[in-house]
Amino acid sequence: MSLPAHVAIVMDGNGRWAKNKGLPRSAGHKAGIDALRATVRHSVRRGIKILTVYVFSSENWQRPDAEVGLLIELFMASLNDEMDELNSNNVRLKFIGDISAFPDKLQELVCSAARNTAGNGGLQLVIAINYGGRGEIVSACKKLFIELHAQGRNAADITEQALRSHLDLPDYPDLFIRTGGELRVSNFLLWQLAYTEMYFSDVYWPDFDTAEFERALASYVRRQRRFGRTSEQLVGTSTNALRGICRDGNGKV
Ligand code: FPP
Repeated sequence: MSLPAHVAIVMDGNGRWAKNKGLPRSAGHKAGIDALRATVRHSVRRGIKILTVYVFSSENWQRPDAEVGLLIELFMASLNDEMDELNSNNVRLKFIGDISAFPDKLQELVCSAARNTAGNGGLQLVIAINYGGRGEIVSACKKLFIELHAQGRNAADITEQALRSHLDLPDYPDLFIRTGGELRVSNFLLWQLAYTEMYFSDVYWPDFDTAEFERALASYVRRQRRFGRTSEQLVGTSTNALRGICRDGNGKV
C-alpha cells in the first residue's frame, strides 16, 4: 500500500520524558516542539498531504494553571517562530477546536496564521487546540439541526454525509499515531478515526524522530485496509478507490 495521505498524531509523553531526565515538565513540552518541527519537516519530505496534531485537548484545562499557561505561551511563541519556515515549506495551517476559550491574543494569532498560509498548496498542518471529539460531534449536530430546521426539513435528512460536512475536520486520517505507550484515543477525532489504521509507539513524544516515524509509515504500508470487505473482494481495487467509497458514505461498511 502507498504512504498515508493523512496522518494524525497524539503527541504524548512530554511530562514523563522530562521526569525521567530530572527536568521540569516545561522542558518536556519544549522538547516536544522540537519533535513536532522535525515531524512536520519529515511529512513535507515524504509528501504527506495532511498532518493533524493534538496540541491541547478540551480536557487539558484540568491541568494545573501554571502548565496550561505555559502550553498557551509555548504555543503562541512557536507559532510566531515557525511561520517563516512553514511558509517556505508551503505548509497551510488549519486550526480545529473551540479557540474562543483562549485569550484574544492567541485567537488573533491563530486567525492570522491561517490567513497568511491559506495560499500554500503543500502539507496541510491541522492543529487541534481546545479540541474534543465528542464536543465536535455535538457541535456538528447543532449546526446540522439549525440548517435542517431553517429549510423545513426533518430527521430523515440527517445523513452521515450531512453531519460530516459540519465537522471541524471533514478529512479522515489514514494513519493514527500515539506516542508515550498509552493505548487509547483520548477523545481525538472520534468520528474520523472509524477506519483509520492505528500505530502505538512506546517512545515519549520528544524522542519521536524520523526513524520512529518511518517505522510507523512502514507498518501502515504493510497493512491491508478492507473497510468492511473481504480480502477476495479487494483484488484489483486500489486503497484510494476504497477510501473514496468509505468517504462518500455509500459503502455500507
Ligand atoms: C502530552 O504530554 C502533550 C501535550 C499535553 C500537548 C502536546 C504538546 C506538545 C507536543 C508541545 C507543545 C506544542 C506546542 C505547539 C505548544 P504530557 O504532558 O501529557 O506527557 P505525560 O503523559 O508524560 O505527562
